Amino acid sequence: MNKKRILFVSYTAVLGGGELCLLDFAHAYRETSQVLLLTDGILKKRLEDLAVKVEVCQASRSLANVKVSSGLASLKSIGDLWRLGKQIAQRSKAFDLIHANNQKGFVVSAIARLFGGAPVVWHLHDILTADIFSPTNRRIAVTLANWFATRVIVNSKATGEAFVAAGGKQELLRIVYNGFDGEVFDRIDSDHALSLRSELGIPSDRPLIGMFSRLSYWKGQHILLEAASKLPDVQVLLVGDALFGEAEYTEKLKNIAAQPSLQGRVHWLGFRQDIPELMKACDAIAHCSTAPEPFGRVIVEAQLAKRPAIATIGGGTNEIIENGVTGLLIPPNDSQLLADAMQQIFSDQAATQKMVETAYAQAKTKFSIPSVCEAFEIAIA
Ligand code: UDP
Ligand code: GLC
Repeated sequence: MNKKRILFVSYTAVLGGGELCLLDFAHAYRETSQVLLLTDGILKKRLEDLAVKVEVCQASRSLANVKVSSGLASLKSIGDLWRLGKQIAQRSKAFDLIHANNQKGFVVSAIARLFGGAPVVWHLHDILTADIFSPTNRRIAVTLANWFATRVIVNSKATGEAFVAAGGKQELLRIVYNGFDGEVFDRIDSDHALSLRSELGIPSDRPLIGMFSRLSYWKGQHILLEAASKLPDVQVLLVGDALFGEAEYTEKLKNIAAQPSLQGRVHWLGFRQDIPELMKACDAIAHCSTAPEPFGRVIVEAQLAKRPAIATIGGGTNEIIENGVTGLLIPPNDSQLLADAMQQIFSDQAATQKMVETAYAQAKTKFSIPSVCEAFEIAIA
């Protein structure tokens, strides 16, 4: 079967989970397709490194200022949306479909449809709940989807359910999980992971729990620090940066880490691109989101690194972890339960090892790149 010609449209060009997911699909379709970024950033280079054709068509500052938590169509940005919509319509003539990878990207692609653009598939990576999205924003997104999208690809059942609860049409939905190359994790040898750990100044005889999320209140790094303050032996590795603002939260975390009970035990690395190696250097990996996580790439990555994952219940996490079988699931916002789960993992090594092996086997098949690419191909057919 001939590969579809896809114009992938992404508003953001930072490396968040949605953009890392886009890398895999854009790579799979690189011979027939192209990526259009509406802002410039590190994603451009990563796409070029994968031999994906990529172009930047810069959106204006007024569109950049529109936040998902406020109304989307601020008057200043309407002219910009229209201009971009027309440009995308024009470019899309050489393609079978437009794949919009985020909400702003979808809005301009829906407008492109008004100007005769190619059919639009919206790849929805977010749970459309009141916590993060304003009511106006949700209404606009769902109405545009119902009118203009030929399909809405969601990254989990949970994301799909929230879309329908917000008024989206069920029949538009197709679930496509994120995919991962397990070989990248398999290739790392344990000596390398150990030497990385010592380079970071982390003692090898202390349990190390890592968290690999952007610094953002709802990702819940503060819960991990609170949990670690109850366990004097435990060392904490915080990997990730504030990708979408959140400077205040970073300050708050630095203050918590400076408390005497945590001093010298929290290791900050900022944003890194060597996630598999760093995961292998840890003894366990925490996911602490305080709001439902749409999917949660880091959980699958922990499973592929053969490290036990402790994740909070909510959103798509239970599509990745079966509690006690492929990881531990705990309620969000409870640092005591997180501390208990960490102790359980560090003390019962035989049970932990069994869980890790089961999780690895599941992740290797359920979330492999070929299996998600097949689901993607069916979703856009
Ligand atoms: N990640 C990364 N560098 C960092 C921190 C995280 O590359 O310093 C990656 C991480 O490995 C994962 C992604 O960013 O693949 C985060 O995706 P996830 O779905 O867990 O959360 P999101 O940030 O997209 O909500
Ligand atoms: C978003 C979600 C995250 C998901 C990622 C990839 O960034 O917040 O949960 O894993 O997209 O689909």
